[in-house]
Amino acid sequence: MALETERLILDIWRSDDWTRFRPIATDVEVMRYITGGVPWIDERIRSFVDRQIESYRTRGFCRWKLLRKPAGNLIGFCGVGIWRDGLEPEIGWWLARAYWGRGLATEAAAEALDDAFERVGLERVVSIAMPENRASTRIMEKLGLDFDGEFESEGVRLVRYAMDRVRYREIGRHPAGSRRSAQVS
Ligand SMILES: CC(C)(COP(=O)(O)OP(=O)(O)OC[C@H]1O[C@@H](n2cnc3c(N)ncnc32)[C@H](O)[C@@H]1OP(=O)(O)O)[C@@H](O)C(=O)NCCC(=O)NCCS
Repeated sequence: MALETERLILDIWRSDDWTRFRPIATDVEVMRYITGGVPWIDERIRSFVDRQIESYRTRGFCRWKLLRKPAGNLIGFCGVGIWRDGLEPEIGWWLARAYWGRGLATEAAAEALDDAFERVGLERVVSIAMPENRASTRIMEKLGLDFDGEFESEGVRLVRYAMDRVRYREIGRHPAGSRRSAQVS
């Protein structure tokens, strides 16, 4: 299956997609607030992709690969994963630098969040970022997630935002209202 927005397809991964994702995961600017700018090595990129395939198979959700319409180039990912060893579903997003600043991450995230609550039936979704990563925390705010506290993991200070099913129902679909999508298959 895949999801669709005005400008994007959110699709499941294939193992060999890792080479298309590689330029993103090795861009030091993309990785600035993830690893402090350290590129992922190939093994890490491969295992990320394989984990998404496994996650979709076993849990019904994953961090979708993002394909920019109409050509279908792979420009990043967005969707729900399991953060580190935590148990809570966490929504996240990475985009190739050339696509920043156009609202694409918000567009994808709104769709992925709807899917997480409506099709998957999750009770609560969190999102985690370094507080300095304002583009990321701004997306959380725009989606309607609420600040849920600060914590430290592996020596790094992080913020967590959250939304539960009750809050999702209260605000309805994505408050920015920028899209309505259809499942494309
Ligand atoms: C985070 C990321 C996905 C954002 O993608 P994007 O498509 O540019 O995001 P959007 O355009 O949908 O929204 C970004 C919002 O943050 C705002 N923003 C961007 N940079 C900002 C900054 N430095 N300070 C404050 N706000 C900022 C934008 O103005 C926009 O808000 P607005 O619509 O109210 O104007 C992209 O920067 C990225 O891939 N970064 C590297 C990977 C990463 O850090 N992922 C998150 C890990 S927690």
